[in-house]
This record gives sequence, C-alpha cells and structure tokens, in this order.
Amino acid sequence: MDIKERVLGHGLRWWARHGGIAQFHRPAGAAGHVAGWVMGRRSSNVARNRWAARLLDVQAPEHVLELGCGPGVAVAALAGRATRGMVVGVDHSAVMIRQAGRRNRAAVKAGRVRLIHTPVESLALDGEPFDAALAVNTLGMWPEPAARLRELARLLRPGGRIALVSQPRCAGATAATSVTAADELTALLTGAGFDGLRTETLDLDPPVVCVIGYVSGRAARATS
Ligand SMILES: C[S@@+](CC[C@H](N)C(=O)[O-])C[C@H]1O[C@@H](n2cnc3c(N)ncnc32)[C@H](O)[C@@H]1O
Repeated sequence: MDIKERVLGHGLRWWARHGGIAQFHRPAGAAGHVAGWVMGRRSSNVARNRWAARLLDVQAPEHVLELGCGPGVAVAALAGRATRGMVVGVDHSAVMIRQAGRRNRAAVKAGRVRLIHTPVESLALDGEPFDAALAVNTLGMWPEPAARLRELARLLRPGGRIALVSQPRCAGATAATSVTAADELTALLTGAGFDGLRTETLDLDPPVVCVIGYVSGRAARATS
C-alpha cells in the first residue's frame, strides 16, 4: 500500500469515527464534496469499481444500470465498454450526481450516459430493459434491499445479469467478514429470483467480494 493510500485510509477512519460515515451514505454539502472527492480518487475505490465493471463483461451495444453510483467511477468504466449502448447512473445524493456528471461529461453530452437523482426505492424507469446492473458498496444502505432486488430483476431482460459488490468497511473487518458479506448477497439474490450465482474476490484488505447472478426464468415470469 503506498503512502498516499495509507494517509487517506487513516484520515477516513478518523473521519468515520467522528461522524463522517454519514457522508458515504448520502453525501451532502461541503463534507459530501470531500467524500465524493475521496471516493473518486482513492486507489482502492477506483480499483474496486473498475474491477466490478470488468466482471460485468459489458458489450458495446448494451444498456447498463448502476445503483448508488456515487462520483461516477464505475459509470465511466462501464461507458468505456458500452460504446454503442447506454449507462444509467442513479444516486440519491445531488452532490454525487453532479460529481458523476463532471467525471463523465463527454459521455453525458454524447447521450451515452444518463444520471438520475433519485433514491433507488423510488426508481421509475420505462423503456427497454437493461442488459446488466451494478451496485458497489451501496446495497447495505438501501431500505428493504430484498424488495429493491426484486424490482431490479424486473428492470433487467430475461437472462440479464447483476453484480453486487461489497468491501466491508466496519472496524476490524477481515477476510471472514467479506465471506459473510458474500453469503448475505448470495442469499438476497437467490431470494429475488436470480440464479447462476458465482462469487469473485479482489485481494484488498479486507477482500472485496462481487456476487454475480442472472435473471432466472422464475424472476422473468414474475415480471410478465
Ligand atoms: C459508499 S458510496 C459508494 C459510491 C460508489 N458506488 C463507489 O463505489 O464509488 C454509497 C453511495 O450510495 C448512495 N446511496 C445510498 N443509499 C441510496 C439510496 N437509497 N438510493 C440511491 N443512492 C443511495 C450514496 O449516496 C453514495 O453515493
């Protein structure tokens, strides 16, 4: 771990202990700008988001949805792949939507990225179903995540895929905490009707887990 990453990590842990954690749940105001700045530049966060976008294996014409997109790091990585498609990023923080807009200015202008300021629990989208969806370190902040995942299954085409990423941020988190997080995500996805589930791991400290699943016939039938 390089010195810049170490200093940022110490700073973040201090900030979290002193009430800053809320700024990662719903960044607002000047402190929210700082939280977005950190998420957009901290090498572990950037690596985690780019890794997740690679795992989702997005193809050029595909339509992709990212929930809780924060400052738009994964949106940029996804838009770099969906070059003839569309990436929709959603976040309930106006500060994050603005930062994501700046980070993806050219793609937004070209109509390949759309950013929506809304809570996931109020998300209303029409139009063609998405090929893939991504959520990085955000699902644990949503109200009733099981219900949200059932709604997401309805926004994806049959066979469409989802990637849920978690790097536990609680004090003292270890590799075992990451395994527990993966088990919880797997159970939630199974309950929402996704199948073909697999877990990938990125070797950070603690490890990042990504659970990938597909909209099953069962989930697709529930939508019709
Ligand atoms: C820890 S940050 C992660 C941001 C981004 N995914 C990343 O990895 O850089 C969590 C993000 O989820 C967003 N968020 C949390 N709850 C949300 C909800 N109910 N609806 C929409 N966005 C939400 C927050 O505003 C924040 O931008």
